[in-house]
Parts: sequence; structure tokens; C-alpha cells
Amino acid sequence: MIKKLRKAVLPVAGLGTRFLPATKAMAKEMLPVVDKPLIQYAVEEARAAGIDQFCLITGRGKTALVEHFDIAYELERTLRDRGKSEALEVLRATQVEPGSMVAVRQQEPHGLGHAIWCARAFIGDDPFAILLPDDLVLSETPCLAQLAEAYYETGGNVVAVTEVPREHTNRYGILRIGHDDGRLVEVQGLVEKPLPADAPSNLSIIGRYILMPEVLRHLADMERGAGNEVQLTDGMAKLIGQQPFHGLRYEGRRFDCGDKIGFLEAQIAFALKRPEIAPAVREFLKQYC
Ligand code: UTP
Repeated sequence: MIKKLRKAVLPVAGLGTRFLPATKAMAKEMLPVVDKPLIQYAVEEARAAGIDQFCLITGRGKTALVEHFDIAYELERTLRDRGKSEALEVLRATQVEPGSMVAVRQQEPHGLGHAIWCARAFIGDDPFAILLPDDLVLSETPCLAQLAEAYYETGGNVVAVTEVPREHTNRYGILRIGHDDGRLVEVQGLVEKPLPADAPSNLSIIGRYILMPEVLRHLADMERGAGNEVQLTDGMAKLIGQQPFHGLRYEGRRFDCGDKIGFLEAQIAFALKRPEIAPAVREFLKQYC
């Protein structure tokens, strides 16, 4: 029996060094694309995939992320008194159901694998999704919903994958692939940040995963991998051969918002999808180009 996917883990405890000084006192995941913080895009995407339980893996100085999903009582009241119904509606859309979101502290940033292990009590024995909020995907069907469909089809681990330039394999988790039907790829191996010469393919994992709870047993070993961090990729690699494991070539365009260029590109791409501002954006872009 395939268990329903209801849980999502959102790791937001990274240091965000590539975005200093913006990230000195503020979490990278609170950076807005157009007018919405990255973290909210991630929560909305998870909801669209049927998820109703959320776990934020936070760190010091990240409380704004938790606040963002709470009731902003004074602000609501002021907006109501001033008759600002549109703003009120936008504000209310940020609230989550009472009791549906928990936050766990990753006391020290020992890597993504360690961050996920910190959510073990929340995950329990259930399948769970991971969304890295700094990866933003613009698509017809939300990326995680595409992944969830593949999960219900295969009953096992599924990760979103995309082709990257060979020379960039050392930035990503890379797949060794078996059977490939053009959409779903059987995963035979996983390597974190291999040098281009050692990379088994140029198919890379992006920040969307659906994993089985058994990965936690492997993460508990706290083995250090690339960058001397506990790598999620290494924990996932240990599931291969034990459980179904697939990569899904999702439909859509991914923006690495943890990187300055990716972040700026996302601003333009998402702005051009907003009918109320797209014409003005198109107009000013012409001047710069
Ligand atoms: P990144 O590799 O982007 O690291 O993490 P980072 O610290 O956020 O940013 P840079 O590289 O210093 O600029 C990918 C995701 O994993 C989370 C991050 O918050 C981000 O969502 N993460 C990473 C943790 O939660 N804990 C960690 O120990 C490491």
C-alpha cells in the first residue's frame, strides 16, 4: 500500500553566505521574488501537492520565517480599520492552519543531511517531501505535484532532476542512471558534487525530493561527505537497491535563487507572469537591452 504524502520538510538553516550582506540579519528564504518571500512559494507549492503538515528546519536568527506564517494580529486589525481589503486578503493567505507547522532548530549547520535528520520526530514512519526554498520552479503544474504523481506511480523515492552543463557537475548531486523512459529515470547511483571528469552523467538533482523515512537511519550515522558536511545525497544513495528510486524530468524552469544571477533571473521571469506588472517590466527591460 502506498502511503499518502502529507508531510514536507523545509530546511532553512543555511548561512546564505552567497547573499551577504542581505543575509546577515535576515534569512535567505525571506528574500522576495517580486513581492513574495521564497519560503511562501515553497509552502504554496507543497500545499498544491496535497501536503498539510510542514516542518521548518531553522537556525539562530531565523524566527522571521516562523512569524511569516502566523497571524499578524495588529496589522490585520489596522488593515481592517482602514478598509484595505485587498491587502488583508494577501495577508491572510500567508497564515497556515493552526497546528500544521512546526519548527525545529538545527543548532549547527552541519549540512543538508544533518538538517533533515533534525526533523526525524516530525517525519516518523511516513514518506515526506523536501523543498529547498531557494530553488524556485516556474511551471504549469507545480513541481512537487509532478513529483507526487510519480511517487504514487512508483511507490518509492523520487527526486526532481535536470540536465546541467558538464562543467558544472561539481555544484550538484549527480545521478548514475539506469533505465530511462525520457520522463522517469531509474537511479542506480548518486554522487555529491563530482568533478566533471568523474561525473557519471550530467543529470542533477534540484531542491525537490520525495523520500521514504528509511533514509533517516542512514543519516543517523552522521558520515561526513563533500565539504565535510553530512550530505543528504550520501544518505539517499544508501537506499538505492533497497527501494524504488527514480529521477523525474519535471516540466518547468528552475531558478537557483541562492545565487545572485539565478535570483535576478527569477525576478524577471516571475514578474513577466504577473499581468498587472508584466507590460511595465517588458517596457523597462527594452531600455536596458
Ligand atoms: P545551500 O547549499 O544553498 O547553503 O543550502 P546555504 O548556507 O543556504 O547558502 P550559501 O551556499 O552559504 O550561500 C541548500 C539548502 O539547505 C539548507 C539551506 O537553508 C538551503 O535551503 N541547509 C544547508 C540547512 O538547512 N542546513 C545546513 O546545514 C546546510
